[in-house]
Amino acid sequence: MLKKIKKIKGEALKKISSANTLTELEDLRVFYLGKKSEFNDILKGLKDLSTEEKRKVGPSANETKKGIQEALENRLMELEEAEDAKKEWIDITAPGKKIKKGHLSPLSIVQNNIEDIFTSMGFEIADGPDIDSEFYNFDAMNMPADHPARDMQDTFWVKTGSRKEEERAVLRTHTSTVQVRYMEKNKPPFRIIVPGRVFRSEATDPSHEHTFHQFEALVVGKDVSVANFLYIAESFFTQFFRRKVNVRLRPSYFPFVEPGFEFDINCANCGGKGCGVCKNTGWIEIGGAGMVNQKVFEAAGYDRGKYQGFAWGFGMERLAMIKYKISDIRLFHSGDVRFTRQFK
Ligand code: DAH
Repeated sequence: MLKKIKKIKGEALKKISSANTLTELEDLRVFYLGKKSEFNDILKGLKDLSTEEKRKVGPSANETKKGIQEALENRLMELEEAEDAKKEWIDITAPGKKIKKGHLSPLSIVQNNIEDIFTSMGFEIADGPDIDSEFYNFDAMNMPADHPARDMQDTFWVKTGSRKEEERAVLRTHTSTVQVRYMEKNKPPFRIIVPGRVFRSEATDPSHEHTFHQFEALVVGKDVSVANFLYIAESFFTQFFRRKVNVRLRPSYFPFVEPGFEFDINCANCGGKGCGVCKNTGWIEIGGAGMVNQKVFEAAGYDRGKYQGFAWGFGMERLAMIKYKISDIRLFHSGDVRFTRQFK
């Protein structure tokens, strides 16, 4: 019997140490220690032995059982470690996976471009809140409650639960709101631009969106003139479109400027001869501008007549559409990367 036990032990230890998988190991455990195993029969038979035999065989059987169990545990640990190591293995020869990156929208590209050009000309970038008071959007801009010009801008009113005029709020209809906000806190001379989001309660079509972006410029000092405006505007558009751009002024009306203009740039597509892009006029309409109305300075707390300044405002999407020949303003909100990827 002792021989049998010794044989089982020798065989088991050898097989265990060369088991290569967890299932193989489990099979060995069942085969050598399981209820139906030869070794278990031996253990069960111990009780029938004489006391003397028991004394000889008993300890040896127990020791064998322990030995096999230990060998199983050790091998189990080794196999599990090997398994883990396999998982952490990095194949440094595997080809790289292409990481999908986002892309700047043409609008962000245009805005960055505008900011670079103006900061290089000594302008500061200012901003204000998207939800603003009726005061900054209208009253301070010389558009009191009964002013007909308020109808020019279809306004989203924001429920504030208050009927008091100073607590009424709007989604700003233009970036002009930042003019008085900025002037309340700063004294001339200064030059700022204000790129920002604006809102109009309008039906959308290829050239109208309810949410779009404007970009305001405001230059104030002791003797700022229309000639300064023309010079800055032509330098800006020349850098922006990377060609010599001429600016043309047409008289127009905005309550916050006096005199007021609309301004155009010469058409790059036909060089001024007239084509589909400029509707045969040779000029492309860009935005509004003018000399700051003294009433706006007064709203900001400046003394009447002390300063002069010019302001302008226009749509950034429109500028991007001209630069990149984009035909529909609604594409900007489409969130479609096939659209955004096209622009550099
Ligand atoms: N705020 C005007 C608009 O949204 C655009 C504008 C016109 C801004 C003339 C100006 C300006 O600063 O001088 O329609």
